[in-house]
Amino acid sequence: MALFTKKIDDTDQTLDLKIPHHLAIIMDGNGRWAKKRLLNRVAGHKVGVDAVKKITIAAQAMGVEVLSLYAFSTENWSRPQDEVSFLMKLPISFFERFVPDLIANNVRMQAMGDLTALPVATQKAVADAVQATQKNTGMILNFALNYGGQADIIQATQSLVEQVKTGQLDASQIDQEHFEAALQTASLGDLANPDLVIRTSGEQRLSNFLTYQSAYSELYFTDTLWPDFDQQDLQKAIESYTKRDRRFGGLNVRK
Ligand code: IPE
Ligand code: IPE
Ligand code: MG
Repeated sequence: MALFTKKIDDTDQTLDLKIPHHLAIIMDGNGRWAKKRLLNRVAGHKVGVDAVKKITIAAQAMGVEVLSLYAFSTENWSRPQDEVSFLMKLPISFFERFVPDLIANNVRMQAMGDLTALPVATQKAVADAVQATQKNTGMILNFALNYGGQADIIQATQSLVEQVKTGQLDASQIDQEHFEAALQTASLGDLANPDLVIRTSGEQRLSNFLTYQSAYSELYFTDTLWPDFDQQDLQKAIESYTKRDRRFGGLNVRK
């Protein structure tokens, strides 16, 4: 695998950053951010949106090719109804304001997850943002909305079973390539698997994000809560990633 290196900080003469091709972020800690300030949880989600904007632009500037952001999991439906309903509406105002920035920065937006379960107005906001940015050729911003890694694996299995039933595919042909072509990340091709997964807020788990695709991802955990996560934190995560020795089961990948 070719390494993409880029010097970010001109004062740092020694470390050439290795930029992950696909960066995935579990944006966690909005509720705790609000609680610390005696605000309601929804206030944390509102401020979290600003971090999404900043980090998207920063990642694009650093040369990330795919940025996957975990915005709503298949398990998040179990939260109180007022919070769920706020989170469901959030993309509407967010994309409306953010799409011009995406266009100005040549970012192409796409979404994964079961979007059919979202309110119709939210589905439309997502579809409009995808449509408005589809000609952009820079970074892909891949939003995970009502996404779950296990659901992803199950829907891939169902689609392969369907192909076997209709005779398009023989069961013995099912291999990694076929399976990956049935996952929600198929359109990302070689970039489907995140090189680096960042999780904010101190939790050290994947919470059902990109379960299949993260098999060989480097993991980075920070105590910073998502609304406070900024470009410097991103740089720190990428510095840590730069120093990792990715062996993929082999030996001496790192030069
Ligand atoms: C992440 O922040 C945003 C979503 C899961 C939608 P949380 O809402 O999980 O914040 P905490 O973990 O309660 O602090
Ligand atoms: C993961 O965060 C989901 C998103 C960031 C969208 P959660 O806050 O839902 O995860 P758990 O419940 O702490 O595992
Ligand atoms: Mg959380």
